[in-house]
Amino acid sequence: SWSKHLSALASMVQELVKEKAVEALKKCFASRMEFGTAGLRAAMGPGISCMNDLTIIQTTQGFCCYLEQSFGNLKERGVVIGYDARAHPPSGGSSKRFASLAAAVFISRGVPVHLFSDITPTPFVPFTVSHLGLCAGIMVTASHNPKQDNGYKVYWENGAQIVSPHDKGISKAIEENLEPWPESWNTEEALKSPLLKDPYQDVHTQYFKAIQKHCHHREINKSSQVKIVHTSVHGVGHTFVQSAFKAFDLHPPYAVEEQKDPDPEFPTVKYPNPEEGEGVLTLSFALADKEGASVVLANDPDADRLAIAEKQESGQWRVFSGNELGALLGWWIFHCWRQQNPDTAAVKNLYMLSSTVSSKILRAIALKEGFHFEETLTGFKWMGNRARDLLDQGKTVVFAFEEAIGYMCCSAVLDKDGVSAAAIAGEMVSYLATKNISLSQQLTTIYEEYGYHISKNSYFICHDQDVIRSLFDRLRNYGGQKDSYPTECGRFSISAVRDLTTGYDSNQTDKKAVLPTSRSSQMITFTFSNGGVATMRTSGTEPKIKYYTELCAAPGNSDVTHLKKELDDLVDAIVENFFEPVKNKLQPKPE
Ligand SMILES: *[C@@H]1O[C@H](CO)[C@@H](O)[C@H](O)[C@H]1NC(C)=O
Ligand SMILES: *[C@@H]1O[C@H](CO)[C@@H](O)[C@H](O)[C@H]1NC(C)=O
Ligand SMILES: *[C@@H]1O[C@H](CO)[C@@H](O)[C@H](O)[C@H]1NC(C)=O
Repeated sequence: SWSKHLSALASMVQELVKEKAVEALKKCFASRMEFGTAGLRAAMGPGISCMNDLTIIQTTQGFCCYLEQSFGNLKERGVVIGYDARAHPPSGGSSKRFASLAAAVFISRGVPVHLFSDITPTPFVPFTVSHLGLCAGIMVTASHNPKQDNGYKVYWENGAQIVSPHDKGISKAIEENLEPWPESWNTEEALKSPLLKDPYQDVHTQYFKAIQKHCHHREINKSSQVKIVHTSVHGVGHTFVQSAFKAFDLHPPYAVEEQKDPDPEFPTVKYPNPEEGEGVLTLSFALADKEGASVVLANDPDADRLAIAEKQESGQWRVFSGNELGALLGWWIFHCWRQQNPDTAAVKNLYMLSSTVSSKILRAIALKEGFHFEETLTGFKWMGNRARDLLDQGKTVVFAFEEAIGYMCCSAVLDKDGVSAAAIAGEMVSYLATKNISLSQQLTTIYEEYGYHISKNSYFICHDQDVIRSLFDRLRNYGGQKDSYPTECGRFSISAVRDLTTGYDSNQTDKKAVLPTSRSSQMITFTFSNGGVATMRTSGTEPKIKYYTELCAAPGNSDVTHLKKELDDLVDAIVENFFEPVKNKLQPKPE
């Protein structure tokens, strides 16, 4: 079958040559995909810049060698490999095919491979690493990317995504192992090897047991359960979310028929990303209206993230932001934990985490309730690894989230998990319904109790690295003064500055930032005297300067109209004072 795949790739290249499509050819062949902490993510197609049989083999050979160097017992412990439902007929690439090639590479070196016999959600891979005590895990998925893309995501033995310097070590090992080993292509032999095992049944059973044990909080009276709609957006989520609801003894959600089965063409959506909001949810809203359901749950195609919408009294649908869901799930998990742990001292051992660009609502709840809140750098790899450290110290970690609709609702999986999050959301919605409370009403109650947290995030597009550097360097040498940051922004006074590019933090006695710094990316956070926080950062993967702003009001300040106006003014001031000087070189976010 590999010759069929190669001829598909060859005819793609011939076509491009015939059309003299120089730019497209450059995109395929100019430079090798960079292996980072998130692994690989690129289009499926020919060339070293794309995901195809050869680049999968090269990547896996490098990863395998790196694991051989890192673990003396790799041949006893082995690895797990999972895949989603992506396929790209023009190039012959698919997640399943890439997963079997990766398995062939490990097996040719005598390493046991637990290769799932069917598609799974991404969180099953980190779960399996921990459950079976393996050295590493690979998930072949491009999550919510467009249909032509695929990806290769890597987990370490601790069950969390890899962090530096593993990425650099793996990258180097890939460069040193580019020549395919003779057996790397031989998926047929590999699939017959006694080293190959299928963990599907066991992991399926154990995963639902684990979330039932660790994430499930309370029995909900069946007769008062509400109607919920679920969409898996043509991805893997459907059967797993149905099983999770069953494990929690909840009524199964109504599945959006057109989107419930995996389909790599994602035919009913423009982008398979529930973060895009309403367009992706149109069919869900139609089904909910038909069935009289008031809540919609949506996973992304690899079911590691979760979006929620609720029908309001006006009849309009409200799609909650990732930060608002963080507030709701964090509240619910603490509320349940508190009832199950009446011992007041136990709270001192309890932790919740969020990334530094996400809402600080957990900090406000933690402050009032007495548990610990920590922030990490952006990305679940940081929260997964920090959670592992805390668990190893005997702490209890019950929740972590990031604003990009990623939720870890218990420590069964040390990564975001849209399957357990969906079931926990179902539990919370049903519980609130028994008290005739909607999610919107509960969110208001949370804000009334712990303080309103209103956020506004956006970005500018900028392809010019020099412009980006000059924008951030101007902030570091403000008003022409070297190493001096702004002390105000329009009418807003700045009380603290943290620069994670240089490692400076004005609020630490030694002026050194606590979180890790990275010279290769830009990230500055300003804290304002009025309770505002604003972070400006570059994206590692896209030509964007992102900004994240939040106004954290004190409990008791319920003048939402005023707070919203204050945040709008703050954002305007930031754009005017910090972006404006280079604004003619930036493009605004498309509407
Ligand atoms: C469940 O709810 C129904 C209707 O609200 C009520 O009649 C019934 O007693 C409840 N059952 C239990 C076990 O609480
Ligand atoms: C439930 O709440 C809605 C709106 O908040 C209210 O109109 C309705 O009367 C309530 N129903 C019950 C049974 O309390
Ligand atoms: C600075 O640190 C102090 C003491 O740790 C803390 O109370 C204060 O909230 C911090 N201020 C800011 C702006 O982060």
